[in-house]
Amino acid sequence: MAEDKIRVLVSEEEVDRRIEEIGAQISKDYAGKQVHLICVLKGGVFFTCELAKRISIPVSMDFMSVSSYGSGTKSSGVVKLVKDLDEPLDGKEVLIVEDIIDSGRTLSYLIEILYKRNPASIRLCTLLDKPERRVADVKVDYVGFAIPDEFVVGYGLDYDQKYRNLPYIGVVEIE
Ligand code: IMP
Ligand code: MG
Repeated sequence: MAEDKIRVLVSEEEVDRRIEEIGAQISKDYAGKQVHLICVLKGGVFFTCELAKRISIPVSMDFMSVSSYGSGTKSSGVVKLVKDLDEPLDGKEVLIVEDIIDSGRTLSYLIEILYKRNPASIRLCTLLDKPERRVADVKVDYVGFAIPDEFVVGYGLDYDQKYRNLPYIGVVEIE
């Protein structure tokens, strides 16, 4: 099988450094509280784990999975809940952790359903943001890197389920 060529967009060192900064910021912003991280599977898993390790206040974690029907590099905009959370959200300081915000449809759907579960607060944290592509209006509280409109892989992000394990953010050079 031919290997795709991958160009590094954000190096492993840069990603690690930025996650450390965001972890410190979150620890400060939620001082005296416990933060409940909601990892959006599968893409958010690497970022969530690395971020959790950098947060110095008490952390709890839960996982959910949504799909925005479609494969390859295009999403259809129809979001479906594939795996729900294990725990209720009542009174919790919820922080949704995503790999990337593209159209914003996934997050606006998530916020809508999670708000109904009476958390104390909901904030959003994403490793990557493609602001040019936004369709749904979502307010993001923590952003790792704003990137141009290119299809990226690595650090949890996939191209047809491959490349999630790359320790950096790269662009697949499709031939
Ligand atoms: P949104 O609902 O359009 O914001 O889409 C978000 C989801 O689409 C992300 O959680 C990713 O799973 C996927 N996605 C968007 N852009 C990329 C990309 O450049 N690489 C890999 N996955 C992406
Ligand atoms: Mg995702």
